[in-house]
Amino acid sequence: MTPAYQTYERMKAFVGFDDADAGRLRRLAPVFAKHGATITDGFYATLEQYPETAKLIEGRVDALKATHHRWMQELFSGSYEQEYFDNRMRIGVAHVRIGLDPMFVEGVMSYLRTAGLLAIREEFADAEEVSVLAGSYVKVLDLDLLVINLAYGDERLDRLTRFTGMSRKLLERCIVHG
Ligand code: HEM
Repeated sequence: MTPAYQTYERMKAFVGFDDADAGRLRRLAPVFAKHGATITDGFYATLEQYPETAKLIEGRVDALKATHHRWMQELFSGSYEQEYFDNRMRIGVAHVRIGLDPMFVEGVMSYLRTAGLLAIREEFADAEEVSVLAGSYVKVLDLDLLVINLAYGDERLDRLTRFTGMSRKLLERCIVHG
């Protein structure tokens, strides 16, 4: 078990992400099958407005939207173990490689929280049910963000190791102790 996967498991426990959350997320799959495309269109419209993000998606918006749609379907698969984690790490690394500033990933997650909560509210009448389902939705997004940020941290340390020739352990010690 890698240290990154251990961190993911610890954080799942920390936020109280359990089988009940997994079950609720499976229940949400049809909601996002219905609203997912509109939500995705919404944040791609924003990405097209900012030069730093527009240049990265230029000429391949439709393909990226399809990729994003698959990512969204996986959010509601009900299975959040090693395979899910590995997949999310790969996504993080893909964004580091293209030089995307992580603040834009944070921004998209914020958009997804808001848009997703509106979609859930539209599909369920009972306020108690909405709040419980919304809780699981927010937790899984935050865990995804955590993994993407782990990938950013990991990849940046790897690059520094290659560039400076310093060992990973030494670099980590420098970061912690200044
Ligand atoms: C919540 C935030 C985001 C999620 C969940 C997400 C999801 C994904 C996924 C699943 C992939 C495919 C990765 C793979 O090859 O396995 C991907 C790739 C990509 N994403 Fe995102 N994305 C997010 C934010 C962004 C933002 C803010 C941009 C801004 C431009 C962006 C641009 C791209 C690009 C250009 C690729 C293709 C990378 C390549 O050429 O390998 N993404 N994204």
